[in-house]
Amino acid sequence: MTVGVVVPAAGAGIRLGPGSPKALRVLAGEPLLVHAVRRLRACPSIGPVVVAAPPAAVAEVVALLAAYAVTVVPGGAERQDSVAAALAALPAEVELVLVHDAARALVPVEVVEAVVSALRDGADAVVPVLPVADTVKQVGVGGEVLGTVPREDLRLVQTPQGFRREVLEAAHRAAPGSLTDDAGLVEAAGVTVHTVLGSAEAFKVTTPFDLLVAEAVLARG
Ligand code: C5P
Repeated sequence: MTVGVVVPAAGAGIRLGPGSPKALRVLAGEPLLVHAVRRLRACPSIGPVVVAAPPAAVAEVVALLAAYAVTVVPGGAERQDSVAAALAALPAEVELVLVHDAARALVPVEVVEAVVSALRDGADAVVPVLPVADTVKQVGVGGEVLGTVPREDLRLVQTPQGFRREVLEAAHRAAPGSLTDDAGLVEAAGVTVHTVLGSAEAFKVTTPFDLLVAEAVLARG
């Protein structure tokens, strides 16, 4: 079964501070998006890749990724719109789809391959997860603690998230409003989402501090 990847990369990256769109911010001399696509291309299971680029930067992204055989489409106003635009551009032969945030630029090949393996073993939907290290509290509007959530039951969810293509497309057609991940859409459609172990290195670059961490990870090799 052919595995395709859609890469939502059209976010502004407001939390990184002023500057170019997040996927084009430079990490160790190259844009985050180039790091992310290079990692995906290093995965033996991966076929077609479609990137949803910031609409004003489509030509720039095409040039940046010329060496990686990807299709580039303009992204949308919300992450979900960008994923939908990229999904529509995947070739017909793709049966298994991964959705991978460009911002998770340092995802290890092993995580990508674990998601693909779970799909090949028959899962409809798979997400990489990590245990929660901190104690988690629910708070009210005034910041007062309402309760402590047992962290043993919680997981932090990363990308790539993997789906049988028809499952993801049906969930997008039925989209119940804007969610922050694709597994959420599939859950809302009643599909069981499985988990595999993620990696600390698959963290999402969101803040200037995250860029420092990413530089340290790359420098370590
Ligand atoms: O905003 P957030 O960090 O959740 O974004 C996750 C990913 O979704 C990023 O790679 C970002 O570029 C992408 N995104 C997008 N289109 C948007 C908003 C976010 O492709 N309109």
